[in-house]
Amino acid sequence: MKAARSRKGVTLELRTDRAYLATTAYADDGPLTDRMALYEHQRPRIDLEAEVLARLGEVAGRRVADIGCGNGRYVGPLASRGAAVVALDLSVGMLRSVTAPARVGRAVADAQALPVRARSLDAALAMHMLYHVPDPALALREAARTLRPGGRFVAAVGGPRHLAEAGELWRRLLEGTGVQDEAADIDLINRRVPKDALARLLGEHFAEVECSLLASTVVLQDPGPLVRHMLSSTAARAAAARGLDISNRLRGALEEAIGKDGAFWLTTEVALFSARAGGN
Ligand SMILES: C[S@@+](CC[C@H](N)C(=O)[O-])C[C@H]1O[C@@H](n2cnc3c(N)ncnc32)[C@H](O)[C@@H]1O
Repeated sequence: MKAARSRKGVTLELRTDRAYLATTAYADDGPLTDRMALYEHQRPRIDLEAEVLARLGEVAGRRVADIGCGNGRYVGPLASRGAAVVALDLSVGMLRSVTAPARVGRAVADAQALPVRARSLDAALAMHMLYHVPDPALALREAARTLRPGGRFVAAVGGPRHLAEAGELWRRLLEGTGVQDEAADIDLINRRVPKDALARLLGEHFAEVECSLLASTVVLQDPGPLVRHMLSSTAARAAAARGLDISNRLRGALEEAIGKDGAFWLTTEVALFSARAGGN
């Protein structure tokens, strides 16, 4: 963990550090799977795959890139609808975890320099990944370059209240440990690209920018899913690198809250953007 020992900005640096992302945070899909499992308890459930497909419209025969595809949440559904999909990710481990037909193209790629010809795509996705990119504006410029005029771009980041209750619990657990004083950014949630900033950036490179804030609630009667989610985070890794193991305290705090109130409620918010490439 290269940047973990610097005195300031610990997790902020890690969150965009290519080596850390490719070989630790996303070395394989284990941690992402742990985080995604939290949404099995979302009520009402938001079907993000369906929301994305609705924004893309007809994809059969269309060339679609999934930038920062992770474990392929959108790759399979796109391929099964007849799209010619290219799955791109910084991590070879994540690309290996994608279950999709052999015809789906896969490449290790940085969103800031896509190995894709100009104007060759009908659509591109950048779902829950722009906050990992050192220069998100450059990634958007790249996406715009690769799309044909009128091509569709769909991107998502967390909304302002996303998992706010987990963030509050996290900060409470860090109180008095000294970790907060040492690390300039030890927040549980990566908020590097807030929705309003993304709206502005998209406006510079795309036309017809639309945003939907998809909000719901995760309801937990058991601490397990949130404990696994939080422990898989960069914040927990950075805290552990400083000798702080919060798993027992975290579990205890959640058990207490659930015992008292009958459940633990978490706000979920996805800022889902859709835009069109201009005549570039
Ligand atoms: C939170 S996951 C999201 C995965 C998927 N898009 C989804 O929504 O399920 C972020 C993914 O972005 C990838 N990533 C991070 N930085 C990247 C970059 N600069 N270029 C391409 N992929 C990147 C990570 O390896 C990881 O697979």
